[in-house]
Amino acid sequence: MNDRLLRACRREPVDYTPVWFMRQAGRYLPEYRALRKRYSFTELCAQPELAAQVALLPVDRLGVDGAIVFADLATPFGGLGVRYELQEGIGPVVQRPIRTEADLQTLKPFEPDGMVEAVLEEIRLLARSCPVPVIGFAGAPFTLACYLVEGGRTREYTRTKAMMYKAPAAWERLMELLGDAVTLYLRAQLAAGAHLVQLFDSWVGTLSPLDYATKVLPYLTRILAHCKETGAPVIYFGTGTAGLLPLLATMEVDVIGVDWRIALDDAWERIGDHHAIQGNLDPAVLLGPFEEVERNARDILRRAGGRPGHIFNLGHGVLPETPVDHLRRLVELVHTSSPEGGNP
Ligand code: CP3
Repeated sequence: MNDRLLRACRREPVDYTPVWFMRQAGRYLPEYRALRKRYSFTELCAQPELAAQVALLPVDRLGVDGAIVFADLATPFGGLGVRYELQEGIGPVVQRPIRTEADLQTLKPFEPDGMVEAVLEEIRLLARSCPVPVIGFAGAPFTLACYLVEGGRTREYTRTKAMMYKAPAAWERLMELLGDAVTLYLRAQLAAGAHLVQLFDSWVGTLSPLDYATKVLPYLTRILAHCKETGAPVIYFGTGTAGLLPLLATMEVDVIGVDWRIALDDAWERIGDHHAIQGNLDPAVLLGPFEEVERNARDILRRAGGRPGHIFNLGHGVLPETPVDHLRRLVELVHTSSPEGGNP
């Protein structure tokens, strides 16, 4: 197996920088769009053979060094007794948002349901056939809470924050419940054969450092302690985290994912040398000509400067309008560049 991704997670030397893309299995791929004409997203996720096939598409098409499990952030909600639907162009929308003590009572302790079982079976299939490491994932408690409290994606997450300040005991219980669910879900994915896992905390950049440190970070610490027992690498990803990076660096996590709003070498300085770093090309750059992609990618590689522990990725997910060939050429560019960003 091509294990460069795992080696980079552990800051071991690699002959070239490994690369994969968040949301690499999705609508920018014509093969995916063809499948979506026949099946809904939920139907695809419910059929492990089809889901595994989708997860492998970017490995075949782009030559990426990791395959992320095909599922959604909201997939484990069913195991908590939460009903939701995935709305096109919006994402998960929860039928009964969780905002009060009484709402909290409607959540049940996490138990893997049929959808989670399908994800675990997908991982078993991938672990047998995938030529690159299989990346399991879960939403982190704060980002999951945003969906549960707001009911869907919003701009400022004010309802979530209001609950945090007005009902601190309920907030604590919600974060504990989600923390336990995420721990069980990630450990089940690792037991099924995932080689590493990523925690998506996509919306955490909306928080002040103080609130992040006191109302979010303690729950992450517990999840990470449980994952560490397995020995598998863990990636923690958030967006808008430039001001939070010194706090993120206190966590026992192997890799920290950063977005494009901070230069990679500045991020490295704030994080220090005890973590690998993943990132950080702006996904929108891929909507321009390839020369622009090349210019930005080489700048990132130059800022990584050949240090061990760089995983090339975007700063957030692939946009549906992205030309497939840009991504394929970007993988080739990263693979054939010397770690400093020039040609070898
Ligand atoms: O990365 C991958 O390729 C693996 C699969 C994956 C999906 N969602 C598939 C998906 C992963 C890792 C996710 C995570 C996810 N889902 C996150 C965290 C990452 C991030 O973007 O911040 C979040 C916030 C979600 C919630 C969500 N689900 C959104 C915002 C959307 C897009 C809404 C839209 O239609 O534009 C979804 C739906 C979704 N998840 C799709 C896919 C392939 C599109 C479903 C379709 O085919 O219509």
